[in-house]
Amino acid sequence: MAERPSGLRDFEPAWLARSLDRYLSVGLVFMAALIAAFPIYRIRESGLRADAAREQQVNDVAAGTSLFSTGCASCHGAAGTGGTAPTLNSKQFFASITDPQMAVLISTGVPGSSMSAWSQEFGGTLTADQIRQIVTYLRSLEPTAPSVPDWRTGKKASG
Ligand code: HEC
Repeated sequence: MAERPSGLRDFEPAWLARSLDRYLSVGLVFMAALIAAFPIYRIRESGLRADAAREQQVNDVAAGTSLFSTGCASCHGAAGTGGTAPTLNSKQFFASITDPQMAVLISTGVPGSSMSAWSQEFGGTLTADQIRQIVTYLRSLEPTAPSVPDWRTGKKASG
């Protein structure tokens, strides 16, 4: 039997050193892969989130469009272009009001007018989500809204 080497080499024979080196390199490669994966995931994930938001926006506009034509167009005109009630498709109207204000107004209605409360909380027929969809729909008209400074008296007054 060969004589055993003495000293530290007893603790770390060559095969063990090679094995540890191998584990160390595998570990380093694995760590590098994980570190690289995080930014890639973050970039992809924000893209996915933007896609989801866009899809949600499209769905809300579609739902809001149909809710508006069923419940609101009879007074406010098709696509809010005015009738017996204020023209909502108006650059000036959109500039005058925020989304939360619009939601509150639609929810509670305008007392003393034919604009009734639409929220179920106030005896209406719409859920908060449906009102949000109508607001999203109306807001989607803003980029192409015509100038109707006297939107409250309707499009006829503006000529
Ligand atoms: C029966 C007729 C009628 C219906 C239906 C109706 N509205 Fe109105 N709406 C009015 C009238 C009239 C006013 C103006 C109230 C006032 O200020 O005197 C008004 C005002 C508004 C305003 C405020 C406009 C401004 O000048 O600031 C918004 C927004 C609005 N309505 C949205 C809606 C939405 C959304 C629906 C459907 C869910 C709806 N309305 C359904 C009659 C109606």
